[in-house]
Amino acid sequence: MEVPATIACHVLAIPYPARGHINPLINLCKLLIANNNQILVTYVVTEEWAGFIGSEPRPANIRLATIPNVVPSELIRSADHLGFVEDVMTKMEAPLEQLLGRLEPPPTIIVYDTFLFWVVGVGNRRGIPVASFWTMAASIFSVLHHHHLLELNGHYPVDLSEMGDYVVDYIPGVPPTRLADLPLTNRSKLTQRMMELLTKGIKCLPEAQYLLLSSMYELEPQAIDALKANLSVPIYNMGPTIPHYNLGHHKTTINTNHSYLDWLDHQPNNSVLYISQGSFFSVSSAQIEEIASALRESGVRFLWVARQEASRLKEICGGDKGLVLGWCDQWKVLNHPAIGGFWSHCGWNSTKEGVFAGVPFLTWPIIMDQLLDSKMIVEDWKVGWRVKEDERIDSLVRKDEIVKLLRKFMDLENDQVMRRRAKELQHLCQREMEKGRSFQDINAFVREITKTPN
Ligand SMILES: *[C@@H]1O[C@H](CO)[C@@H](O)[C@H](O)[C@H]1NC(C)=O
Ligand SMILES: *[C@@H]1O[C@H](CO)[C@@H](O)[C@H](O)[C@H]1NC(C)=O
Ligand SMILES: *[C@@H]1O[C@H](CO)[C@@H](O)[C@H](O)[C@H]1NC(C)=O
Ligand SMILES: *[C@@H]1O[C@H](CO)[C@@H](O)[C@H](O)[C@H]1NC(C)=O
Repeated sequence: MEVPATIACHVLAIPYPARGHINPLINLCKLLIANNNQILVTYVVTEEWAGFIGSEPRPANIRLATIPNVVPSELIRSADHLGFVEDVMTKMEAPLEQLLGRLEPPPTIIVYDTFLFWVVGVGNRRGIPVASFWTMAASIFSVLHHHHLLELNGHYPVDLSEMGDYVVDYIPGVPPTRLADLPLTNRSKLTQRMMELLTKGIKCLPEAQYLLLSSMYELEPQAIDALKANLSVPIYNMGPTIPHYNLGHHKTTINTNHSYLDWLDHQPNNSVLYISQGSFFSVSSAQIEEIASALRESGVRFLWVARQEASRLKEICGGDKGLVLGWCDQWKVLNHPAIGGFWSHCGWNSTKEGVFAGVPFLTWPIIMDQLLDSKMIVEDWKVGWRVKEDERIDSLVRKDEIVKLLRKFMDLENDQVMRRRAKELQHLCQREMEKGRSFQDINAFVREITKTPN
C-alpha cells in the first residue's frame, strides 16, 4: 500500500512503552486505516521499541517516529520498574515536543494512552485535539474515576486480610464486587504508584476531546453506559483492538508455519489447555513448580508459554503431553480447534482474545486490573473458574488441588453450560464488531476526525 496522495487526517499516536499498550494502540491505528485509507498515522515509540516492532508488518500509512529511550534499556526488564514508570511520566514530554515541531504534515489529532496524562497539555498548547485511549476494561476506568467513593465509605485504604470479602455495590456501572477484586486495593508500592498515575490520567480527561475505550458493549454494558452518563467528553467504544479485526491487507504475509501449530493439528479437538501467565509480574518459583508437577501428573494436554522459564519448566513437565514455549502467536493458538481452555493471568488484552476465541478460562490474576478482569470472567460472564479462591497473593496452591481442578476443567462432559456460554459470548462480541455498537462507534469516530473543518 502506498502512502495516500491526499491525506484526510494525520493521526499522531503515542503509546505507553510496554507491550500491553503498544499492541492495542497500533491495532487501533490499523482499524482507523482499514476504515479510511486516506488516514496517515505517525506512531511514536522509543528507539528501543522501534527495534522490537520495526520489522513487524504494517500498512504503509503507518510510519514510525522515534524518541530517545527514557531509561537505559537494561533497567526496563530489571526490578526497577518503578523508576521506569517515573521516567515515562517526566522524560518523554520534551522529545515529543521537539518531534511535533518538525513533523510534516502537522498532525490533526493526537491519540495517546490515557496513562500519559501529560500529552493532554501538549495538545492543548498547540491547539491539536487529543483523544485519550484507555487500554483496560471500562469497569476499571469507572473504579478509578469514582475512587473517592471508596474513601468515603472507609474502604480505601483497607486491610484486605480482614475486609477482602466485603462486597462493594456503590460504584456506578460496576456490579457487586469484593474489595479484594478491585484494582485500587492493591498492595505493592509499584501498583499503588501506577494506580495513582492512572487516576491522574483520568482527572485530565475533561481537557481531552475524546475518550476511546477498548471494550465491548456485550461485556460491560453497565460500565459503558455509566461512563457515558457521567462524562461530558464524547466516548467511542472501539472494540477489542486485537489482531483479528486488523489483519487487513497483511493477512497473507504473516508466516503461520510454526511447529507448535503442527503439533496442535495432531491433537483432538478441545483437548489442549493453553497456559500463559503473562510476562512481567510472575508467580513465585515454588508455585510455578507446583503447577508444573500438577500438569505432568494430571495427564492433561497443554501448551505453555513461559518466556524466561521455558527450559526449566520443560524439565519438570516432561515432554509427552505438552509443549513449553518461549513465545507463540497467542491469537492463532487460541483459535485452534484443539484448544479447550485458557489458563490466563487475565490481562485485558488476553481476556479479550480468550473471549473472542470462545474458550473457557482458568483465571490466575496477580495485580492491578487483572483481579477485576478475572472476577468478570468468573462471576459476570460465567465463562471460567478461579484456580485460586484465596485472594492473598502469597498463598500457595498445592499440586494435588491443581491436578483435581485441571482434570475436572478439561473434562468436556463437565460444565457444558460454561463451554456453551463461552461460544455464545464469542458470537455476541463478533456480531457487535460486524454490525453492532462498536462497528458504529468506529465509523463515527473516523467520520469525526476526517471531516473537513468549516
Ligand atoms: C460523575 O462522577 C463524579 C465522580 O464520582 C461525581 O463527582 C459526579 O457528581 C458525577 N457527575 C454526574 C453528572 O453524574
Ligand atoms: C496479547 O497478549 C499476548 C500475551 O502477552 C500477546 O502474545 C499478544 O500479542 C497480545 N496481543 C495484543 C493485541 O496485544
Ligand atoms: C513448513 O515448513 C517446513 C520446513 O520448514 C516445510 O517442510 C513445510 O512444507 C512447511 N509447511 C507449509 C504448510 O508451508
Ligand atoms: C474438530 O474441529 C474442526 C473445526 O471446528 C471441525 O471441522 C472438525 O470436524 C472437528 N473434528 C472432530 C473429530 O470433531
